[in-house]
Amino acid sequence: MNNNIISGCSKMNKNAKIEMVASRFTNPEAIIDELKSYWHENPAIQRLFDEFSENTISNFYFPLGIAPNFNINGKMYLVPMVIEESSVVAAASNSAKYWAPKGGFRAEVISTTKVGQVHFIWNGDVKKLQSYFPELKRNLIEGTRHITENMEKRGGGILDIELVDMSDKLDNYFQLKATFDTQDAMGANFINSCLEEFAMILKEHLAESEHYTGAEKECQVIMSILSNYTPECLVKVTVECDINCLRNAGDIDDPEHFAWKFEKAVRIAQIDPHRATTHNKGIFNGIDAVALATGNDFRAIEAGGHTYAARDGKYRSLTDVDVSGGKFRYWLTVPIALGTVGGLTSLHPMAKFSLQLLENPPAQDLMKIAASVGMANNFGALKSLVTKGIQVGHMKMHLLNILNSLDANDLEKAKAVEYFAQHKVSYNSVKKFLAGMRQTVAANL
Ligand code: MEV
Repeated sequence: MNNNIISGCSKMNKNAKIEMVASRFTNPEAIIDELKSYWHENPAIQRLFDEFSENTISNFYFPLGIAPNFNINGKMYLVPMVIEESSVVAAASNSAKYWAPKGGFRAEVISTTKVGQVHFIWNGDVKKLQSYFPELKRNLIEGTRHITENMEKRGGGILDIELVDMSDKLDNYFQLKATFDTQDAMGANFINSCLEEFAMILKEHLAESEHYTGAEKECQVIMSILSNYTPECLVKVTVECDINCLRNAGDIDDPEHFAWKFEKAVRIAQIDPHRATTHNKGIFNGIDAVALATGNDFRAIEAGGHTYAARDGKYRSLTDVDVSGGKFRYWLTVPIALGTVGGLTSLHPMAKFSLQLLENPPAQDLMKIAASVGMANNFGALKSLVTKGIQVGHMKMHLLNILNSLDANDLEKAKAVEYFAQHKVSYNSVKKFLAGMRQTVAANL
């Protein structure tokens, strides 16, 4: 392993970077060929991908799939999903088909507010800062007009700015905590630009105002950044039906018992953080896949979702259930800050396509769609877990990965899929099946 510091990597051209990487392998020519084989044949498109990030040497493919039959508030969607994990698209599709005739997913956006903070250290008379805050707030709003003007024309902008005294937690620590409406944009650049301007205005206000004296005329701005915790950018999705209607050929033959077990599974995810984490991971399987397909920042959404799951001090399930009066009601409440304009949404050709497939929804509709898919994946996972177990379905979907890893040809794959429709899939059972088939073919040559 070469442990030398690499200098000037970003300044190298793409071929030089590839050669530098390939030189670390025993077969550099083959590595170069492989990296180049994943370049897009259209140089303009390849350049676009290269410029999304830095030090790019090739493309890393993920599949784009579609989950049909999503009945969300009475409208049917064919949802694009980008995910590498086999069975996620299948699980979402199965749940969508299961719920579509039962009224589908009822989704509502509860709020769309986003948050940003200027964190600063200031040593002075807090009461003074508080009493002159209305003046500072006016300056902050006026002084960012050049940034907010366009957003305001679209109906968004700064909603409010508060001064938060955190000095009981950290000496002399305060925040300017601002809330924003960014309409159909995710709004990260808009919010961060406002915040950095706020920080300058704050410094000027302290330095120039005659209200402050001595050390009060200065503050140390530690950082200005949006928060990915968006508990007020919230969406709720509900599925509901008579318990009897839960019956499903193949896995739910006793709906009462299913509802009882399902409820217990959700309660367990509400009290046990180990289970809650996996339960919520299943929800983000769906949400992330839609976020990725539509060019949104799935890390931001995940981070905010997990914090929300721990909002009362203990990490819990993001879903809740009510099984009573002959009814089964299951709902998910989750913050999802995403955009349908700006960022990659129109730059990435497949993100653009995905949004077109969804009929170019406003951000609030995309929030509802992403949450419904998260709910579908979670419902599908729990349905399997409390009935036949997760592995039957998972391994069936994983079959092709196993076959590919064993270099199965098309005929072998077709025969294996046919055979394993009735048999338990495991790596060894597939290996054995292939070996048997290959032996028979060899014997007949
Ligand atoms: C796997 O990606 C997701 C599940 O583990 C979710 C769950 O356990 O609820 C199946």
